[in-house]
Amino acid sequence: MAFSYRCFVTLLFVLLFGVFNRASISIAAVDDPLFPVFENWISEYGQVYGSLTEKLQRFQIFKNNFQFIESTKNRGGLTYTVGLNKFADLTNEEFLQRYATYKTRSGSKASTPFMYANLTSIPTSIDWRTLGAVTPIKDQGNCGSCWAFSAVASIEGINQIKTGNLISLSEQELVDCDSTCKGCSGGYEYYAFDWVAKNGGITTETNYPYISGTTKGNFKCNTTKTSDHAATITGYQFVTTYSESALANAVANQPVSIAIDASGSAFQFYSGGIFTGPCGTTLDHAVTAVGYDTLNGTNYWIVKNSWGTSWGESGYIRMQKDISSTAGLCGLAIEPSYPTK
Ligand SMILES: *[C@@H]1O[C@H](CO)[C@@H](O)[C@H](O)[C@H]1NC(C)=O
Ligand SMILES: *[C@@H]1O[C@H](CO)[C@@H](O)[C@H](O)[C@H]1NC(C)=O
Ligand SMILES: *[C@@H]1O[C@H](CO)[C@@H](O)[C@H](O)[C@H]1NC(C)=O
Repeated sequence: MAFSYRCFVTLLFVLLFGVFNRASISIAAVDDPLFPVFENWISEYGQVYGSLTEKLQRFQIFKNNFQFIESTKNRGGLTYTVGLNKFADLTNEEFLQRYATYKTRSGSKASTPFMYANLTSIPTSIDWRTLGAVTPIKDQGNCGSCWAFSAVASIEGINQIKTGNLISLSEQELVDCDSTCKGCSGGYEYYAFDWVAKNGGITTETNYPYISGTTKGNFKCNTTKTSDHAATITGYQFVTTYSESALANAVANQPVSIAIDASGSAFQFYSGGIFTGPCGTTLDHAVTAVGYDTLNGTNYWIVKNSWGTSWGESGYIRMQKDISSTAGLCGLAIEPSYPTK
């Protein structure tokens, strides 16, 4: 009884609050030429808000983001574009909390050999997508599992290169079962590689589909699924750190997991072209380098993200390569690693 009483009071409160707020929201809406733009965005992305108050708060954030995008567009001279996307009602802080939760490992990392250290020549460009080693773009959703998506993309790559079979593999298995990582609360690609090697393999996306994007939870590991080994690896290696040429040696041979600083609004709203920053080097996101090329004299990395196809260039970002800082753009050369097979 007590529960239903509280429930009723809350409901009544919400109703009254909603009516009260309707007046102020409609005044703001009438006055603001951006409100119809916001309404269009809401219907385009199927956004649902719990209350009018929340909608009004989201509109303020949307306006700020809209102004950032317009001022970036008007600045000119950039090799990339920004635009409204599904993140347009999130502040940059909220965006980071949800989608860029990777943390650089403190303390010393394992020292590994780097088998691509002494290559004498590599191709001037490579794109593992056209070579058939990259599965379609996936979406981590509202879960800090970028590390799992990054690791899986690299495993899918080396598996295709060694076996000829492109198999979409399971991030959920890593989120649920890799106890060396923390599921939706973060992890490391190289821990994931190590876990997969020790587990004897990883199962398919179909067998162990991804659900944490909507549930934001880790689930009990299904050991029946974990004993299915659709793809195997033997271990992992780190790329020589702070060296884009070492990274190129590795990417010339297979897709490589990289950690980056994805914290700027420019990254949040990137919609195409060669990204040049601004961004720092505090690594907060994991992605996968699947190639490199040159456009009009500017070298760039082809990077697979896990934020769905509506972000960036159908889910990808081209990031400027061979910049003066040895950390690479957004720190991409600081912590690259790849699975061995
Ligand atoms: C690369 O060359 C260095 C210097 O000659 C050597 O110490 C190292 O073992 C070589 N690495 C590989 C993977 O061949
Ligand atoms: C674990 O996976 C197997 C095989 O897909 C399935 O039959 C079983 O119901 C799953 N167990 C749980 C607890 O979900
Ligand atoms: C690259 O150069 C071509 C020819 O000069 C030009 O048409 C094109 O707009 C340039 N592309 C970019 C992205 O700068």
